[in-house]
Order: sequence, then C-alpha cells, then structure tokens
Amino acid sequence: MHFTLADLVTDITQNAVEAGADLVELEVSETDKEFRFLVNDNGKGMTQEELKKAIDPFITDGVKHPGRKVGLGLPFLIQTAEQSGGGWDIKSEKGKGTKVTAWFDSGNFDMPPVGDIALMFRTIFMFNSAGEIVIRRRKPNDEYEVRKSELLEAIGNFEEVSNLILLGEYLQSLEE
Ligand SMILES: Nc1ncnc2c1ncn2[C@@H]1O[C@H](COP(=O)(O)OP(=O)(O)OP(=O)(O)O)[C@@H](O)[C@H]1O
Ligand SMILES: [Mg+2]
Repeated sequence: MHFTLADLVTDITQNAVEAGADLVELEVSETDKEFRFLVNDNGKGMTQEELKKAIDPFITDGVKHPGRKVGLGLPFLIQTAEQSGGGWDIKSEKGKGTKVTAWFDSGNFDMPPVGDIALMFRTIFMFNSAGEIVIRRRKPNDEYEVRKSELLEAIGNFEEVSNLILLGEYLQSLEE
C-alpha cells in the first residue's frame, strides 16, 4: 500500500470535524528522530465503550461504508504507529471532545513516507465544517500557525478553484 502519514493525519482530522467540533486543533511536529501529530477537538466525544469499539480493527459499524469489511481510521493509525516503532494515545470524553496523539520513528524502515504536508493542510481546510481549525506546524528550524478563519477572511471562500490555488500556494510557501 502506498499511503502516507499525511493520509493518516487527514483521516484522523476528518473524524474530529465529523464529530461536530467547533474547534479542531492540529499539531504536526517533525524532528530528525520522529514525526508526531496531535488532533484535539471539542466535538461529541466517545464513552469508554465507544472508544474501545472505535479502536478495534475487527469491529466496523457498517453504516458509513456498507461494502467495506475492514475498518480504517483509528485501528489503522494504531497498527501503523506500532509497526514502525512509534506509539499512540487517545483520550475521549462523551460530550466534551477527543484528543488523538501518535508518533512515528523516522529511523524505522517501516515508517510510511510523510507525504505532502502543505497539500494535506489544504485538504483539511477544505473539509465541510463551520468550525475553527487551527494548525500548528513545528520543524527543526521553523514553526508556524494558521487558522481557517483568518485564511477565509483573506481569501474569501474555499470553493472557487482560483482561491484554492492561492490557498495551496500560500500553505506551500509557509512549508518551504
Ligand atoms: N474525534 C472523534 N470524536 C468522536 N467520535 C469519533 C472520533 N474519532 C472517531 N470517532 C468514532 O469512531 C468511529 C470510527 O472512526 P473511524 O475513523 O475508524 O471510522 P469512520 O469515521 O466511521 O469511517 P471512515 O473514517 O472510514 O470514513 C466513528 O464513526 C466515530 O463514531
Ligand atoms: Mg473516520
């Protein structure tokens, strides 16, 4: 399979948006040694029972993807982190929100490629949600923060193709 860590982060951030959060915070940090991310949302949250089901690779509710026999999402994140010498932590409280953290050992042969981070941020800002999305990015010699509300204010909307090109170019320039 040719998935990337960016695919995983996108998937987990989508869960946060789908949980109805009006604030989603995403942190993506990279050093020579590890790739780490954190998604914090104030959405619907899960009970311990619901969380247990959500991380179980053999349980899928079959609602969203009726034809699919295997779960992706959280089980896939956990499996990937564990297989490549990393780890994970998930905390959730019903009605309050969810926090997902995972880290990956860059020196590990089995770590998937990181992928295109700027493109990933653009995809995340394009998710259909009225809530705020704050992204914090840390690299060894650089860090930056971007907010969906500020980008929308500057660009107008994320529907017109020309605006999406602008958004992509801006995020790319921050990343370089
Ligand atoms: N941040 C979150 N807040 C609340 N519930 C969550 C969160 N993340 C996951 N869940 C719950 O766990 C379930 C499983 O998540 P998972 O990402 O594995 O699958 P999915 O989102 O239903 O489908 P897919 O991601 O494959 O489109 C979700 O349907 C949701 O009920
Ligand atoms: Mg999901």
